Amino acid sequence: MDSNSILFRSGKIDFCTDWPSADEYYNLFLTTRWNDEYCLSKEEIEKSIRNRWFSISAYSGEELIGTGSILSDGIQHALIVNMIVHPDFRNQGIGTAILRLLVNKCKECNIRDIQLFAAQDKHNFYRKFGFVARADNAPGMQYRYR
Ligand SMILES: CC(C)(COP(=O)(O)OP(=O)(O)OC[C@H]1O[C@@H](n2cnc3c(N)ncnc32)[C@H](O)[C@@H]1OP(=O)(O)O)[C@@H](O)C(=O)NCCC(=O)NCCS
Repeated sequence: MDSNSILFRSGKIDFCTDWPSADEYYNLFLTTRWNDEYCLSKEEIEKSIRNRWFSISAYSGEELIGTGSILSDGIQHALIVNMIVHPDFRNQGIGTAILRLLVNKCKECNIRDIQLFAAQDKHNFYRKFGFVARADNAPGMQYRYR
């Protein structure tokens, strides 16, 4: 898929696989408040965009209003990250459409393990799609150094 369009409540949204520019992504990223913790500069954001394995960018006209990306080895593991829809465009199915395109890409590549970290209030969103929580005796682990 290079690009396709879907009609939502807020109008036509174009989905493509091009990397967004650092500026447009940065503006969307700021809406999540995640950068209060990550403290990423625009240069770091730009580098992180280029290192992604696959990305979906969603546009309303010229405006980037949604993204989702995959970090992957292309065979065994895929980690879905940075699912963001602009607050003005939420709750009409755009996030689900992005997630579907990301999961379809993994399926096309026959990737065995599709994972993600679900924020506390997003479990339902992912569960509705078909994701299941890892077992309590084998949850993910994280190394924190700052
Ligand atoms: C998570 C996120 C990407 C979802 O994007 P979204 O476009 O709102 O997603 P959808 O519209 O597909 O689904 C969101 C909700 O709207 C509901 N919905 C979908 N289409 C709908 C419609 N046409 N009418 C009414 N509700 C609808 C879904 O059922 C879902 O409900 P739920 O949250 O109770 O499960 C968005 O909330 C976001 O950017 N959040 C901030 C960043 C974040 O937390 N990212 C995820 C980190 S794990």
